[in-house]
Amino acid sequence: MSEQLNNTVALVTGASSGIGQAAAIRLAAAGAKVVLVARRADRLKTLEKKIQDAGGTAFSIEADLSSANEAAGAVAQTIAQYGRLDTLINSAGVMLNGPSLESPLKEWDQMVDINLRGLMYITKAALPHLVEAVATSPRKVVDVVNISSVAGRFAAAQVAVYNATKFAVTAATEAWRQEFTKRSVRFSVVEPGATATELFEQKDGLREGFQARFGEIEWLHAEDIAEAIAFIVTNPRRVAINEIVVRPTDQA
Ligand SMILES: NC(=O)c1ccc[n+]([C@@H]2O[C@H](COP(=O)([O-])OP(=O)(O)OC[C@H]3O[C@@H](n4cnc5c(N)ncnc54)[C@H](OP(=O)(O)O)[C@@H]3O)[C@@H](O)[C@H]2O)c1
Repeated sequence: MSEQLNNTVALVTGASSGIGQAAAIRLAAAGAKVVLVARRADRLKTLEKKIQDAGGTAFSIEADLSSANEAAGAVAQTIAQYGRLDTLINSAGVMLNGPSLESPLKEWDQMVDINLRGLMYITKAALPHLVEAVATSPRKVVDVVNISSVAGRFAAAQVAVYNATKFAVTAATEAWRQEFTKRSVRFSVVEPGATATELFEQKDGLREGFQARFGEIEWLHAEDIAEAIAFIVTNPRRVAINEIVVRPTDQA
C-alpha cells in the first residue's frame, strides 16, 4: 500500500531532462513539494511551471553539482525555501563512453565529476537535513534514491569510466544504507537499462554503440524509471526497497 508524499520536500538532481524530469513530475503528483536542480535554468523554469499548472508545488535551482559549493548551495536554498528535506533523488549524470585510446581524459573527468563527486557533494550536504527531518516527517522515514545503472553491476568494453562511477554509486549506496537505516534514512539504488533520454545525445556514436551491443530494442521511457522511484519512496516506513534493476524486456 503506497502512501502520499504530502507535507514532504523532494530535491531532484538532473531535473532538466530524462529520468530526473519524469521523477520530479511523478513525485509532485504524489504530493511532494519538489526542488528541481540542474544547470539549464530555462528547462527548469519550464518544468516548474508545468508542475504548478498541474496543481503541484515546485521551485527550481540552477546549479552545477560538480562544484561542492554549488551542491551545498542548492541544499541551503531548499531549506530556505521549504524548511525541510525528506527525499533526495540523485539522477544527474553523464555517459561519455568510447574507445579508451581515443577518449579525451576530459570526458573521463566529467563522468567522475558529476556521476560520483556531484552525487557525493549533494548527499553530504543533504544528510544532516534528512536526519533532522525524520523527527517531524509525516511518514516517519526519509529517502535517498541514487540512479546508478545496469552499468553499475556489469562492466563492458569501452564503458570503463562510466562503469567505474556507477559501480561506485551502487557500492556507496549500500554502505550508506547500512550506516543510516537505523536512523530511518532509507538509501536505495535504481539501475536502469536503456532508457530513451538525452543521455545518448551527449556524444556521437553512443546510440550506435549501444545498438551494436544489444540490437534494435524497445527502449524504456523515463516515466518507467520514475515509477520505480515513486514505488520506493511511497512505501510505508517498514518497507525498504534497497535496489531495483529495470531493463527493457528486449535487453538481453
Ligand atoms: N538513459 C539511460 O539509458 C540510463 C541508463 C542507466 C542509468 N542512467 C542514469 O540516469 C541518470 C539520468 O540520466 P538520463 O538518462 O535522464 O539522461 P539526461 O536526460 O541526459 O539527464 C541527465 C541530467 O543530468 C544533469 N546534469 C548533468 N551534468 C550536471 C551537472 N554538472 N550539474 C547538474 N546537473 C547535471 C542534466 O542537466 P543539465 O545539463 O541541465 O545540467 C540532466 O538533467 C544518469 O545518472 C544516468 O547515468 C540512464
